[in-house]
Amino acid sequence: MAVMTAPIQIERVKKSRLSTVDFSNLGFGTYISDHMVVADYKNGEWQEPKIVPFGEMLMSPAMLALHYGQSIFEGMKAFKNKNGQISIFRPQRHHQRMNKSLERMCMPSVSEEMFITSLSSLVELDEPWIPTAEGSSLYIRPFVFATESRLGVKISDEYRFVILTCPVAPYFTKPVRVKVEEEYVRAAEGGTGYAKCAGNYGGAFYPTMLAQKQGFDQVLWTDAKEHKYIDESGAMNVMFVLNGKLVTPGLLTSLLDGVTRNSILALTQSLGIEKEERKVSIAELEEGFKNGTLTEAFGVGTAAVVSPIAAISIHGRVYELPAVTPTSFQLRAKKKLNDIRMGHEPDVHGWNHYIK
Ligand code: COI
Repeated sequence: MAVMTAPIQIERVKKSRLSTVDFSNLGFGTYISDHMVVADYKNGEWQEPKIVPFGEMLMSPAMLALHYGQSIFEGMKAFKNKNGQISIFRPQRHHQRMNKSLERMCMPSVSEEMFITSLSSLVELDEPWIPTAEGSSLYIRPFVFATESRLGVKISDEYRFVILTCPVAPYFTKPVRVKVEEEYVRAAEGGTGYAKCAGNYGGAFYPTMLAQKQGFDQVLWTDAKEHKYIDESGAMNVMFVLNGKLVTPGLLTSLLDGVTRNSILALTQSLGIEKEERKVSIAELEEGFKNGTLTEAFGVGTAAVVSPIAAISIHGRVYELPAVTPTSFQLRAKKKLNDIRMGHEPDVHGWNHYIK
């Protein structure tokens, strides 16, 4: 494992592309910042990471990631507050989750030191790319993929670790309409659902495309065995306010242990709401719509932050959620999370990793 003995080596861009960015129309993932981190794994260890200009890479078409799918990623965010301080939200927790994904996919772990040092250096170097408009941030995308050039079905002996960053606006620009999926499956228990591996996302495209053709934005995945219980929504975990309590599916191997999910749950006490992490059945959601006890539904995730769900289709019937109001739990939770990140309220949990 690379032990970082010196500051990370940096090769700067000759000419920044920052002036080409339309900060009033960022979208999500449209612009990639000037630099990237690259580190290779060979001969059984990670080599020293380097920061180089973002650009194309020479790769073998026989590299194993393309054929057998050893490819995982993370997503986190950096913020600049009004005092010019830069922080990354919960990088240690993202690092732990990345190593769980790596383990599940038989890929070598990355040390916390290599992870935090390289991403902090990258964010500091591309600081001018951090947007400051409300709701925007610098999205950080670390990923690892198998690079050994060989077609035999095997665990790769070589890997590449890369970190890209991009200035982003909110992922969803309006409340989303979701369809409870009862035919296709994202992940089964014992599968790779809890790992952030590329295949989980590729496999979700087709059912999501079908749902979009029916007028929905996202799919609400259900358990693979019975299609009775909610798992997550692919790009985000989901939460409900049911009978005045915050209810969210408990962690299983079929769903992602979201960092935003974990953060919102940790804030429930100070927000004055009881929480329940447990199986959430489609039947109780339908019942909650009918008797008025289901008052909120929303997605939570690094990209999504806290995104209202406007409607849920269950067994083909579309149920509308009440409009979000300033007293809605989701708005209060979103504000509190934002206030902690931007330094408007004390970071009692120690979630902000300040790099400047
Ligand atoms: C994230 O929230 O970081 C995600 O991974 C969701 C999506 C952008 C893939």
